[in-house]
Amino acid sequence: MSLLLDEIAVAAARLAEAGVESPRTDAELIAAHVHGVPRGGLSMVPDTRFDPRFWDEIARREAREPLQHITGHAYFRYLDLAVGPGVFVPRPETEVMTGWAIEALTGMDVAEPVVADLGTGSGAIALSIAQEVPRARVHAVEADPLARAWAERNVSKYAESVPYMAGRVMVHAGDFAGALTDLDGTVDLVISNPPYIPVGAYVEPEVSEYDPPAALWSGTDGLDAIRALERTARRLLRPGGLLAVEHGAPQGAAVYWVFPEESGWRDTRNHKDLAGRDRFVTAMWPGEGA
Ligand SMILES: C[S@@+](CC[C@H](N)C(=O)[O-])C[C@H]1O[C@@H](n2cnc3c(N)ncnc32)[C@H](O)[C@@H]1O
Repeated sequence: MSLLLDEIAVAAARLAEAGVESPRTDAELIAAHVHGVPRGGLSMVPDTRFDPRFWDEIARREAREPLQHITGHAYFRYLDLAVGPGVFVPRPETEVMTGWAIEALTGMDVAEPVVADLGTGSGAIALSIAQEVPRARVHAVEADPLARAWAERNVSKYAESVPYMAGRVMVHAGDFAGALTDLDGTVDLVISNPPYIPVGAYVEPEVSEYDPPAALWSGTDGLDAIRALERTARRLLRPGGLLAVEHGAPQGAAVYWVFPEESGWRDTRNHKDLAGRDRFVTAMWPGEGA
């Protein structure tokens, strides 16, 4: 054993006591971050190089600050995103919906598909689409100026480091309701992970104290933002355009009925996340009066 591995064991026990869901993993990732080594290299850190700042960062996690705020990174599909105070930390369940959109766009017979990511946060969805569908042009809309600054930072990073992504993601200030009016009737795919938690519902401290309120709460049934998105999507989509919207696990049936055939939507489908819970709805917009 090494000093660092001993300290990690003690830290993991402290995190478990504090109610952290994956205490050993988090202790190891914090140790790797502080010592500037990959997680697999922790046992190679000499005892003389043990950095006591490890315990400062463990104390932050013990106080239930999200791991990603401590390390400053969130991994999303093939992206390494900068995150911190003021922006929603992207979640693995959103990777599944983003994968659905990437497959749909890849199969589209359109030279340069136009995509709208509404409520982009860190830019996770928009940047993944630009990275994995290099022909796409992605409009990323965000109302919250703090969150938008994180999106702009991540978009700049990828524009500078991945030449084919330069100029492919455009960040816009705007609200779901009035977003991107100059693109009305021309968008191939609208995608959103909106706020969808009913006001007053219980969420873990990492969420309630560190994710921005605008990213979480959405009226008494959690569906206010999704109803606004339905109206915006029917305005933005071209005939045959596609929609994907994430929602909470218990909301599958309710969200299905926000996109019914009676309102003109076609092929409305529920999809599950990796844990088998209802997680997002997709639909096709055939055009007004089709
Ligand atoms: C759940 S977060 C999702 C962020 C990102 N798309 C992701 O999946 O990680 C929802 C985002 O929508 C933004 N938002 C909430 N209401 C909005 C509105 N009316 N118009 C535009 N953006 C909004 C929030 O600020 C937040 O960044």
